[in-house]
Amino acid sequence: MNRFALHLAALAITLASTGPLRAEDDLPIRNCTFCHGVSGQGFMVAPRIAGQRPQYIENQLKSFMAHVRDNPYARKYMHNASANLTPDLITGFSQYFAAQAPRPADDGDKALVATGRDIFENGIPSQNVVACVVCHGPNAEGVRHIPRLGGLSYIYVKRQLDQWNEGYRQAAHPMPKVAKFLSPQEIDALASYLSYVE
Ligand code: HEC
Ligand code: HEC
Repeated sequence: MNRFALHLAALAITLASTGPLRAEDDLPIRNCTFCHGVSGQGFMVAPRIAGQRPQYIENQLKSFMAHVRDNPYARKYMHNASANLTPDLITGFSQYFAAQAPRPADDGDKALVATGRDIFENGIPSQNVVACVVCHGPNAEGVRHIPRLGGLSYIYVKRQLDQWNEGYRQAAHPMPKVAKFLSPQEIDALASYLSYVE
């Protein structure tokens, strides 16, 4: 048995015998926090996954496994990191990280926050940019499968918006169509604003 199968066997026994899942003991979360940082708060190029919507985490893990999410860091890191996941591990990790309290990265350009907030809340009607708030929620907290954006790092959000315009991650409906109307300056402003949202 490989280590994932062993962990899964332990998980099934724990669920049957003690009720609530004690993730620290039973889920191999170090396989994730090794890159994503303590309790999934993000580290270097690995984004914060703490406090993310569970359905969104689940969808992304399936998308990495199927090699559908194809942007460079996804290919380099997550295709391997997701290769041996089982349905139970996907559910377990999604619920575990969704339940961790997220901390904002606070690393954007403060001078661009007001502009970013204005685009987030109102869009730019003259340029066909839709208001992000419509889907991502008033506090960028996300809903159902739509991700929380508030507090994600500047560099991560900027990279995703840039990469939609470079032709990657095209299955992430509707984002490729949203991103194509944003200028580099507007992407900078949005990513700056979002990094400070709690
Ligand atoms: C070797 C480093 C590494 C490991 C191990 C790793 N990740 Fe990742 N993960 C990354 C990087 C880097 C990205 C960013 C990919 C990108 O830029 O699109 C990422 C992205 C993600 C995303 C997408 C987040 C979003 O906001 O779209 C999720 C979800 C995720 N990882 C979950 C996990 C889980 C769960 C594990 C443990 C099974 C794990 N990762 C293990 C490096 C890693
Ligand atoms: C019509 C709904 C809708 C609108 C409007 C919208 N989004 Fe999204 N957004 C989504 C969905 C759904 C996803 C998840 C896509 C996927 O499956 O990967 C997403 C994903 C994202 C992500 C990726 C997050 C991550 O963790 O990788 C970013 C960044 C993002 N949106 C930014 C924005 C910004 C900025 C705006 C406004 C300019 C915006 N979105 C407008 C629905 C929307």
